[in-house]
Amino acid sequence: MNIRTEKPEDVATVRNVNIVAFGRENEANLVDRLRGIASTFSWVAVQSDQVVGHIFFSPVVIAGKCSSTLSILGLAPVAVLPNYQRQGIGSLLIREGLQECARSHFQAVVVLGSPDFYSRFGFGTASSKMLRCEYDVPDEAFMVLELERGALQDCSGMVKYRSEFSLCE
Ligand SMILES: CC(C)(COP(=O)(O)OP(=O)(O)OC[C@H]1O[C@@H](n2cnc3c(N)ncnc32)[C@H](O)[C@@H]1OP(=O)(O)O)[C@@H](O)C(=O)NCCC(=O)NCCS
Repeated sequence: MNIRTEKPEDVATVRNVNIVAFGRENEANLVDRLRGIASTFSWVAVQSDQVVGHIFFSPVVIAGKCSSTLSILGLAPVAVLPNYQRQGIGSLLIREGLQECARSHFQAVVVLGSPDFYSRFGFGTASSKMLRCEYDVPDEAFMVLELERGALQDCSGMVKYRSEFSLCE
């Protein structure tokens, strides 16, 4: 299993991975809209020369109180082809993705999803860091991970995803 940056020739396969994993086109369309925007990151999991998983990060901003130099990313989406799920590929994509984000000097990552799953990677409820989601979601489903300890110490407010997300439904 190899995790690498998405290449131009992966675009169609990545689209397919998202459609098959989510059973709809929304996430694939979102990735297609976000691709190429500054501070977006797209990685794929490759097994036997086949792309079987994908993860994407895009920039978010905090509307509220926060240092203007703080760089935060949103993790979304992450997808693994059904036949390859529950083999650790999703976890590998998330762990390696987060490491790369930290290496690129991003200070925190937010995610909307299952607390049981994302707490494995160190994510905790965003509200405990005084951050809330712009979408109407259960409090525990919106999570944040500091990549740089204390980065969110003086922050509070609403986390806003790129406008491309509002076209997601
Ligand atoms: C979520 C997803 C990427 C995980 O990939 P994966 O390769 O199966 O993940 P791993 O093998 O590393 O980990 C599997 C573990 O995560 C858990 N898990 C996966 N998705 C979960 C979810 N939505 N809620 C809770 N737990 C989840 C599984 O129960 C499993 O736990 P176990 O090992 O204790 O049985 C994959 O299931 C997927 O593509 N799902 C459809 C798309 C999706 O919902 N993406 C996440 C939202 S952005």
